[in-house]
Parts: sequence; structure tokens; C-alpha cells
Amino acid sequence: MVIMSEERLDIDKTLAYLTLDEKIRMLSGDGMWHTYGVGELPRIRMSDGPTGLRMTEFSFASAVPATCYPTASMLANSWDPALLYSVGAAIGKEATAMGVNLLLAPGVNIKRHPLGGRNFEYYSEDPYLAGELAKAYISGVQSTGVGACVKHFAANNQETLRMYSDSVIDKRALFELYLKPFEIALQAQPAAVMCAYNKLNGEYCSENKYLLTTVLRDKWNYDGVVISDWGAVHDRTKSLKAGLDLAMPDSHGLFEQNVQAAIDRGEISESTIDRSIKRILQLTDNVYLEPYGDYDTDAHDRLSYNAAVASVVLLKNENDFLPLTKDMRVAVIGELAENAPFQGGGSSQVSALKSVTPLEALSYRAVEYSYYRGYSSDEKQNAKLLAEALDGATGCDAVIVYVGQPMPFEGADRSSLDLPPAQNRLISELTSAGHRVVVMLCSACPVRMPWVNRVKSIIYAGLNGQNGALAAVDALYGRINPRGKLAETFPLDLSEFEVGRSDFGGEIALYRESIFVGYKYYDALDDGKVLFPFGHGLSYSKISYDSMDVKRVNGSDFDVTVTLTNSSVRDCEEIVQAYISDCSGRVLRPKKQLAGYMKVFVEGQTTATATIRLSRRAFEFFDTEDDEFKVPDGEYVIIVAASATDRKLQATVKVDGNYSDHTTYPASYLSPRRTNISDADFETLLGHALPKPKKKPQKGEFTLDCCLDDIKNTFVGKMAKRKLMKRAKSVGAPDSPERNAFIQTAMFAPLSAVYVMSDGAMTLNGAKGIVEMANGNFFKGLMLLLSKK
Ligand code: BGC
Repeated sequence: MVIMSEERLDIDKTLAYLTLDEKIRMLSGDGMWHTYGVGELPRIRMSDGPTGLRMTEFSFASAVPATCYPTASMLANSWDPALLYSVGAAIGKEATAMGVNLLLAPGVNIKRHPLGGRNFEYYSEDPYLAGELAKAYISGVQSTGVGACVKHFAANNQETLRMYSDSVIDKRALFELYLKPFEIALQAQPAAVMCAYNKLNGEYCSENKYLLTTVLRDKWNYDGVVISDWGAVHDRTKSLKAGLDLAMPDSHGLFEQNVQAAIDRGEISESTIDRSIKRILQLTDNVYLEPYGDYDTDAHDRLSYNAAVASVVLLKNENDFLPLTKDMRVAVIGELAENAPFQGGGSSQVSALKSVTPLEALSYRAVEYSYYRGYSSDEKQNAKLLAEALDGATGCDAVIVYVGQPMPFEGADRSSLDLPPAQNRLISELTSAGHRVVVMLCSACPVRMPWVNRVKSIIYAGLNGQNGALAAVDALYGRINPRGKLAETFPLDLSEFEVGRSDFGGEIALYRESIFVGYKYYDALDDGKVLFPFGHGLSYSKISYDSMDVKRVNGSDFDVTVTLTNSSVRDCEEIVQAYISDCSGRVLRPKKQLAGYMKVFVEGQTTATATIRLSRRAFEFFDTEDDEFKVPDGEYVIIVAASATDRKLQATVKVDGNYSDHTTYPASYLSPRRTNISDADFETLLGHALPKPKKKPQKGEFTLDCCLDDIKNTFVGKMAKRKLMKRAKSVGAPDSPERNAFIQTAMFAPLSAVYVMSDGAMTLNGAKGIVEMANGNFFKGLMLLLSKK
């Protein structure tokens, strides 16, 4: 029945051979990781990325060993599309060897809030940087023949209530921030787009016609496949009509029943189904390959090291305290030196082929050190360990302290920016005793650093993959010259977020801050102070920015040429950033925004130039009146800088835009702090009233769309919760992100998703039985639960 024409699948003819039943079946997955194959039509195998290949044999457990690269949050610090391409291509190669056809990566969502639980899987707070890096990664993956699936479309910025939460965003912020990385990434023509779990402006992304059709298909002309996040589909018919082609994973009949019923009611026609089937067939034709080739594990191991080298960031280095030299007497302190996390948990977690702990890394590099645990992750404070560490540090030239939060986990937001108190205390006591402390930060994301002014140096080692610890030690001892620059702001504190940013983590997340996210937000604060700004990162070289020259090219683009001098003997790579500041006064804009960047190699004691192309698109804003991007006509300052709070050189240019009006904004958006955006002002921006929280369903109203939390006070809910809490005790440490994620996922996932994600372990009747029992129909529910079907 598979019709081939010159080795390609003849889509139309194959479609004609498929029966309606077969087509309905093909609209959802086969098992956890495959599309459904009919006859000789092969099944597409999918696996997670983005940190490495997460090929699991069964459901979620036991991934096949693979190379673990730095997480997206670290790779982004390289600002290096060529590197992202190489990592994508390497993961693609591992995928072809394993017979994986579609890689569920990259994730490109904006880091809206520093506590976002999946920030470690995402690149940046800046849409341009995130989009460009994703584009390169996708091209790399697809250069191997494997398809890439960009995710999570869209506005997936919190983990709390992730399967119900509603991201309420004004149109300008939506297009300029939250959709922008996707729009840029699509230039690499990824084979698939994965919709997010959350709602966007009141509609689940999986059922959001505006998102999946008006924007994705009509505005952006995307013709690949749209697949659901795992368990994100609530109403299969609604999602199909909205433009969702493939629901994942296998619903074991639930979605088929739903679609068949809609056909019977005359609610959808076969042509709606055919539209999606054609795309699934096209995907099959584009990416299906039997497993082939092999990969060189050593070469990939080296790439993971090189990627970690490019991504580690030297945050502070007082009086050039680093690099250390081997003749210095050093103490290494901190339990994390034994087992620092090097990746995050959840669907991106790779069974790493190897991993190097910080202590091993120090030994590999023949560093002589004495080690003290200093604190214990299981205890709030441990006076004995602290005293031993303080004692051990005596007489040392440098004290290297490993700190960090526990491994982050998909499914739970972080609860605080704070390091565990014992770690902060350790650093405080060491600095108070006069020790020269170097902090090795092994955390996924920004943390608060109350001791920042008292330590000599800080290296952000992050979650840097299987060789991350080695790269960090090499930065410490100067074997490499650090070059990474932060792709997100490290705020001083969360209090800076105040009211305007408090709408995070609830069922309704009001994005009141609109376009002012990340450095665009902090820039507007009176003092603009942050712990470390976006774009910040030091090296061991001395770089000066000597001159800049701006040339108009192709009529509307600009080439910004910057001359740099490296007056030190060490070669280095400097990431030169170009920001624009709109002086036209026509629209409300951030003080500056990233418009281009370039990593430039500058040999020691020489001069080099970098030319950054600023395309006309860099000057655009989203005009909500006309529903398109436009360029305000007027003057702009181009700022060349080494971070978002820096200004090395600048030049003013005139841009001939196509927008000469003046937009007005509600008063609270014009005040610099923007921390008191009222409901009324945000409603003006939205163009409609704020959504009201949904009434919680009561007994008699429960459906498969309810979660365990909804039914927790019913008899069956109490039983299920008790069982869950018992089970949770075996997952991670108490209060760990892993355990929190497990509990939150189980408590706040719709029963339909729990059923779908159980991959057949729970029957549909079982799920329906629970709902019946919760509704008070105990015996009916029991019969369903006990039924064999
Ligand atoms: C995650 C996706 C992932 C999928 C399959 C979901 O829980 O949100 O990012 O690709 O699972 O593992």
C-alpha cells in the first residue's frame, strides 16, 4: 500500500489507499515514541534531546547511554551558532545510529522568570539570541537526516500547574518575545513543532487555532508537522481542528473514539483529517531511515568538552586572582565537589556515557589539594564539617568552594534563588577568616550571592555536561581562557520583581511586564543594578574596544565594524555585542535591545576586527494595529558593548522606517519601575478583560480533564493521594526538585494525561472508573475499574 515514486513516498496516492479508520489511528502515536505505521508504511521513532540523545527502550526509564552535552542554558553562554550546529549534528549522528528519526529538541522558550523550572532547557531571556542558537542547532541535527522538533510552542515559562496554567500575554510581547525565537528557528525548517502544555490567552496551546494555524501556518507558512507535547491533548477533535497533526503518545483508543464521534456528529470532515495525515506522511518520507552508521564516542566526548569550555563563564576575578598556579597550596571544599549535577532532570536527562566529578577533574589535571566536605546536602547545618573545613583552609593560598542548588527537574519551578544556607554560611565564614575564596557555582541558573563582594573569583560551571567539571577546572588553572558570556541576567534578588512580576506560578499567569523581560526590565530600573548582567563574562586577556565604523548596506541593513586590541599575551575569543536604542520616540521600547553579536578571535598582543551585520529586522517592533512588524522611522543609537550594562562605543544612525505614527501606552508602563501595572492598564494592553479563575469542579462535575488535586477530598481521591505520597518517598530526596516534580506532576496532571502517559498500564475504563467514583457513582466506577477492558 506504500506508493513510492523514485524512492520518495507518493503522498497523495498513499493517502488514497488509507482507510478512514487507519487515518484516524495515525493521528496519534503508537506506544510512547512512535508514529503509527500502516502496512509497509514505517513508524517514525522519536526521542528526546536537547542535551543529548535520550533514547529509551521502554516508557521513560532506562535510556541508552549517550554523550551528555552542556544544557541549553549553558550552551547559550557560548553565543556560538557554529558550536550549536556541531552539537546538533553530533546528537543527530547518535540518533541515526540508534534509529531515531525525530529529535524532540531544541527548546527555545524565553526565560521569563529566574525561577522557571525548565530554564535549564532553554537558551535565553533574549529572543534573538535564543532563536539564532536554535536555528543553528536545528540545522546541525537535520544535516544528518534526522528531523528536529522545536518546542514548546508557546509561552511555556513556568512548571507550576504546567498542564493547566494560562499565559496571558499582550500581542506585542507575544510576537516580539515569546514567538520570536520560534519564528527565527523556523528559518532552519525543522521537521516538527511541538505545542506546549499550557494555555495561551485562554486556549490550550494544543487546541489554539490562532497559534497553530493563524500564526504558524498562515503568517509563517510553516508546512511541517505539529505534534503535541506528551499528554497535552485534552480534546482531540478540537486540537485537530486547530491544526495539531499528531497527538502523542498513544491514547490507546481515547482519541480515536473522540475523533470518530466528531465525524459521526458531522463536526469534522475527512478532509480535515487528510490535511494532518498528509503532513505525517511527509514527515515519514523526510526523516524515516533505518538505523545506520555509528559514531565516534571519543570525538563526541571531545566535542562535549569543547562545548563546555565555550560555555563556562568567569563571573568575577578580583585583581586577576585567577588563574591559579599548580604551586599554590589549595583546599577544595564543598560536598558538591564529589557529585555536582551536570545536567537537569526529566525528559531531557541523558544516561551519560561518562561523567567527571569536580574532584576527579582536579586529579586528572594533577592538582594537589586537600578536600573537606564543608556541608552536607542532607542537613541544614553541620558544625563539625564546617569546623573541619575552616581548619583545613588554614595556610592555603586559595580555597576552592563548590556550591550549587540541587539538580533541577522538569515539572517543578525553583522555589528560591538562594543556595542552601549551609553553603552560604560556609563561604561567609571562610571569607570572614580572611581566606581567598574562589566559588565554583554548579547550579542550573542564577542564584543569590550575599557574599559576592567578599570572594576573589567566581566561575559559573553550571550544568555543563559530561566534561563540564573538567572545563571548569581548566578555567580555574588557566589551561583554557574563559570566553562564555551570560545568556541571562543574574538578578541581585527576587525583591526586584515586586508586583509587576509576581504573576508567576499561578493558574493564571498575567504577563503584565509585557515586553520588559530580562535585561529589558532591569535596564529600566532607576539604578539598573543586577548581580551580573546579560552578556557578562570575563577572560584572562585584556581587551580594549578601539573604534567602530557603521556602514549602510543593501539599503536598509548596517555593518558595524569594531576594532579590538588584546594587550595581553593570551589569545582570546571576545563576544562583541551590538545593541540598539530607539530614539525615534514613536513607540515604547526597552532602553536597548540586542541586535547582533559576533565572537571574534583576538591573538595576544594583536588587533582584530569584527563586522556585525544588523539587519533591518533588528529595528522592528510589532504593530498591533496592523498586525505586523514595522520599523519606526527615526534615529537609533548603535551601542557596542561587552554586556547589557556596558557601553564601549556608540554611533547614531538614521533608519528609514515604515512607521511614522506615535503609539500611546497606559501611564504605568511609562514609569521606569513598571512594578505597579494595574489590572486596568494591562487590560488596555491586552484589549480585553483579564480572565477570571475557573471555578473548581465539584462532585458530580468531574471529568477526565480533572486532576488528582480536584478530587483529593473524595474517597477515591484520598486513596490515590495516599498511594502517591507513599510512592513519592522513594523519589529523590525530601524537598528535592525531583520529588516536588513527581508530586506536582501526579497531583496536577489531568486524569486523561495520566492515562495516556501510563502507556497502557492504566486502562481507559480504569480512568473513567476513577471519575465515576469521584462523582459519587461508587459501584458504577468500581465495575469500570474492575472491568478487563
Ligand atoms: C516534555 C517534552 C518531551 C516529552 C517527551 C514532555 O513531558 O515536556 O519536552 O519532549 O515529554 O518526553
